[in-house]
Amino acid sequence: MDMLSQALYLVAFQIGLTLTVKSDHQRDKQQTKFCTWKCLTFALQWPGSFCLGLNNSTECRIPSNIKNWTIHGLWPLKVQHCCQCWPIFHSDLKELDPELNQFWPSLLKTQSSFNFWKDEWVKHGSCAACVEGINSPARYFQLCLILRRHFDIDRALSADAGIKPSCNQSYQLDDISGALAPITGNDQNAEIQCIKDEKGREVLVQLKILLSRNLTLGCHPKEGRGAEPEPVWQGPNSPAHPCPQKSAIFYFPISYEHPRQPCD
Ligand SMILES: *[C@@H]1O[C@H](CO)[C@@H](O)[C@H](O)[C@H]1NC(C)=O
Ligand SMILES: *[C@@H]1O[C@H](CO)[C@@H](O)[C@H](O)[C@H]1NC(C)=O
Ligand SMILES: *[C@@H]1O[C@H](CO)[C@@H](O)[C@H](O)[C@H]1NC(C)=O
Ligand SMILES: *[C@@H]1O[C@H](CO)[C@@H](O)[C@H](O)[C@H]1NC(C)=O
Ligand SMILES: *[C@@H]1O[C@H](CO)[C@@H](O)[C@H](O)[C@H]1NC(C)=O
Repeated sequence: MDMLSQALYLVAFQIGLTLTVKSDHQRDKQQTKFCTWKCLTFALQWPGSFCLGLNNSTECRIPSNIKNWTIHGLWPLKVQHCCQCWPIFHSDLKELDPELNQFWPSLLKTQSSFNFWKDEWVKHGSCAACVEGINSPARYFQLCLILRRHFDIDRALSADAGIKPSCNQSYQLDDISGALAPITGNDQNAEIQCIKDEKGREVLVQLKILLSRNLTLGCHPKEGRGAEPEPVWQGPNSPAHPCPQKSAIFYFPISYEHPRQPCD
């Protein structure tokens, strides 16, 4: 190589280097800009009352292997960017399939479990995927299963506090929040939700737990909780709402034959 081409080569090399550095830097900047969410909601639902909020009994189905609280979703709040470009296939979840079927089943006849998971990934998982440890469908669903194991509501209510599903016994909100305190900490970290049945009874249906990005309890997004998924329960009686303080709260047993009228 003569002097000139050597010099040109060096210059080109340096420009190339600068460009690479710059684009890496821009990529990082862009990633930070699109990854500003701070809090996640982890929602668990009780299959025994899930169907009360649906207006058409034929849409509901509780598989016979479902006996415990199931996952509704893991939703980052106030997201800027969801990577709709990331498709999900059932084969991505092959290894998790048995556990997902146990802990994250679709309770709608019209929707397969995989379609439920797929919707959750597209609407929520892909928005969380800019964070290490959540950045693939398999990692996202794996994390949800870990959280489900950690937040063992069945055990906290039933085994540890004697709050068992029943048609004829009711509880007070304080009993329920007291029983959940060992796993959710203070009242600000979680919302205990009820739904009204046809007879106007308040029935425990969902627990929403607020988590920080590092999965510790107690994230509090300052300006409201941001957009959350459309409520599944829109009728006919009332949507899911925070359980009221001073009323009897029922924890209905699961009825596989009559999922919409477990206690009639
Ligand atoms: C209830 O749902 C079933 C199955 O989705 C449908 O065939 C039926 O028409 C629905 N009934 C009403 C009243 O919406
Ligand atoms: C379901 O909950 C019951 C009651 O707490 C518990 O004994 C059982 O181990 C749970 N089953 C699973 C699969 O988590
Ligand atoms: C209360 O409900 C439980 C199951 O939910 C049932 O086993 C029990 O017999 C009922 N007790 C009365 C007094 O109705
Ligand atoms: C997790 O994140 C929260 C909020 O950003 C922070 O206050 C807390 O110290 C973090 N905890 C750990 C263990 O990193
Ligand atoms: C059931 O609820 C959905 C959502 O609120 C509504 O669009 C639909 O018309 C309702 N169907 C009946 C039969 O009430």
